[in-house]
Amino acid sequence: MKIVMLGAPGAGKGTQAKMIAAKYQVPHVSSGDIFRANIKNGTELGKKAKEYMDQGLLVPDELTVDLVIDRLSWEDCKNGYILDGFPRTIPQAKTLDEALEKIGEHLDYAIDVDVPDENIVTRMSGRRACVGCGATYHIVYNPSKKGENCEVCGDQLILRDDDKPETVQKRLSVYHEQTQPLIDYYAGQGILKSVDGTQDMNDVFAAIAAILEA
Ligand code: AP5
Ligand code: MG
Repeated sequence: MKIVMLGAPGAGKGTQAKMIAAKYQVPHVSSGDIFRANIKNGTELGKKAKEYMDQGLLVPDELTVDLVIDRLSWEDCKNGYILDGFPRTIPQAKTLDEALEKIGEHLDYAIDVDVPDENIVTRMSGRRACVGCGATYHIVYNPSKKGENCEVCGDQLILRDDDKPETVQKRLSVYHEQTQPLIDYYAGQGILKSVDGTQDMNDVFAAIAAILEA
């Protein structure tokens, strides 16, 4: 099962990818989480990536593509994976297709979690992310049972640096310009599936599960 999650920033890609990973026992590979782990650990890559992320811009391909594609060659990915946040541009998608073709593999589904821009800013301003394990919550839609701390690891929950309203607007415009064209790209390959991401997160997940089990 090789799945790509598509959708605007805040559409719920990460939320759904974690649910799919838990149910179908395949790893959740998030390019954003890889960058945030590097930022937290103070690596050179993290320092460079942060400059772009804080402005709502994409991290350049030379810092992104090899890093993510290499992650897919790890042992835990041999039965599949859920890619979240990658690919994000047509060149990234083409490089991924070529890398898969070389090893006789292909993607099974590209799942677009569709949420209109109007809903996005509210979602982002209420999102809280764990500094320790990256788990995500929402102060209204999915609050942590431990208040300001993570239910999973107990670490502190914070508002992501790039979730300020002005940065979210920039991320949305970058999404429409550079990432949305992937919807037509994967439709052309016959693997695109769309789900209504404005529903309750369990209903979104039920719609995705129905696709995967059809
Ligand atoms: P990344 O981490 O991928 O961020 P993003 O795409 O902007 O998406 P988010 O993680 O913000 O949203 P999400 O769709 O995962 O939503 P979530 O499930 O958290 O990337 C960050 C940055 O890294 C980029 O801007 C870029 O700079 C860089 N980067 C990463 N990959 C790159 C690449 N390939 N190339 C270049 N640069 C790259 O949900 C959002 C909130 O809504 C949460 O609070 C959640 O609880 C809530 N929620 C979720 N579902 C629902 C629902 N159904 N109803 C109500 N609330 C919901
Ligand atoms: Mg995410």
